Amino acid sequence: MNKLVFPDEPLVLAIETSCDDTSAAVVRNNVVLSNIIASQAVHSNWGGIVPELASREHVLLIGHAVNRALSQAGCTMSQVDAIAVTNGPGLPGSLLVGTQFAKGLALRWEKPLLPVHHLEGHIYSGHLETPDLPFPCISLVASGGHTALFLVESWSSYQMIGSTRDDAAGEAFDKIAKMLGMGYPGGPLIEQHSAGGDPHTYNFPRGLIAEQTFDFSFSGLKTAVRRLVQHTPMNDTERSHVCASAQAAIVDVLTRKTLAAALQFKVQTVVVAGGVSANSALRTSMLEGASQHNLRFAVPRGEYCIDNAAMIGFVAVQKLRNGLPELEDFTIQPRALRSKTSYTRQQIKTLN
Ligand code: KG4
Ligand code: ZN
Repeated sequence: MNKLVFPDEPLVLAIETSCDDTSAAVVRNNVVLSNIIASQAVHSNWGGIVPELASREHVLLIGHAVNRALSQAGCTMSQVDAIAVTNGPGLPGSLLVGTQFAKGLALRWEKPLLPVHHLEGHIYSGHLETPDLPFPCISLVASGGHTALFLVESWSSYQMIGSTRDDAAGEAFDKIAKMLGMGYPGGPLIEQHSAGGDPHTYNFPRGLIAEQTFDFSFSGLKTAVRRLVQHTPMNDTERSHVCASAQAAIVDVLTRKTLAAALQFKVQTVVVAGGVSANSALRTSMLEGASQHNLRFAVPRGEYCIDNAAMIGFVAVQKLRNGLPELEDFTIQPRALRSKTSYTRQQIKTLN
């Protein structure tokens, strides 16, 4: 392959379609010029993501998202230096739409194409608005598909030190919301309903909290809520108490494990990212915990917490600037990381 030379401040068009958000962004250097996110309302009728519907929606939305991202950034395809696209993990059909669209654009406009690992997008999203955030740091990624802790040493080096053994934190929020007869996605709804509830009403299980591991488990919490819902008449007040107590259990575990990791690995900075990091109770709890231990804490703004192409473009820019482009032809890598295993960045890339 010919060695490509990129400008110091490359202009990157990024595409992210790993799950149920169709997103396109334009990033120059560390500046996000546009970040279009089209969330797919179609899944709310089903209480969860329907993979086939997600890929069909991506097909409908991707062209508009890319056009809007370019026009909002005030640039054209010919000015773009490279195209970045999420190639995994995620839903195979959803990933295929984004990667094939990106490959088509790259071919038509003769642009280099960079595959980006979805979790790398989340891991480094704390650096998006604070690029001078120091390494090493502990990065918690808590979303609908993943809950994992990473020890991040540099732009090119990180390892997973723990992950969920069953559900992801966001999945727990979503499933509990479903049990309570609420809509999808459950996280924001549970947060809303928690406002009127008392978090001390139910002492729900905090999975693996007392164990010497950075793994997570949310299945005990889910079972406890299911049993309670089966035996307790639910009105609005009771529902709010359940929401507040369940949210408190999830926030407690996420905060304590993240801070414990920071202390054990002697890092000064913690980052919380992924859809669940939009949760205000989690943000407050992390902020308080970090300041008690004199740690620096970073959390992206809402639009960079959920799945978004800006974080993918940002990682691509760092790769270009740090001489790490992976411009070879690539396939999608739908498989997620397994728990109980510590992965390095290189192993994560070659998992499939
Ligand atoms: O990162 P994301 O957009 O997609 C995945 O990669 O999964 O995360 C979506 C997840 C969903 O499970 C949703 O319920 C959760 O993030 N979420 C929240 C909040 N906003 C989104 N969970 C708790 N509180 C929120 N405010
Ligand atoms: Zn995600």
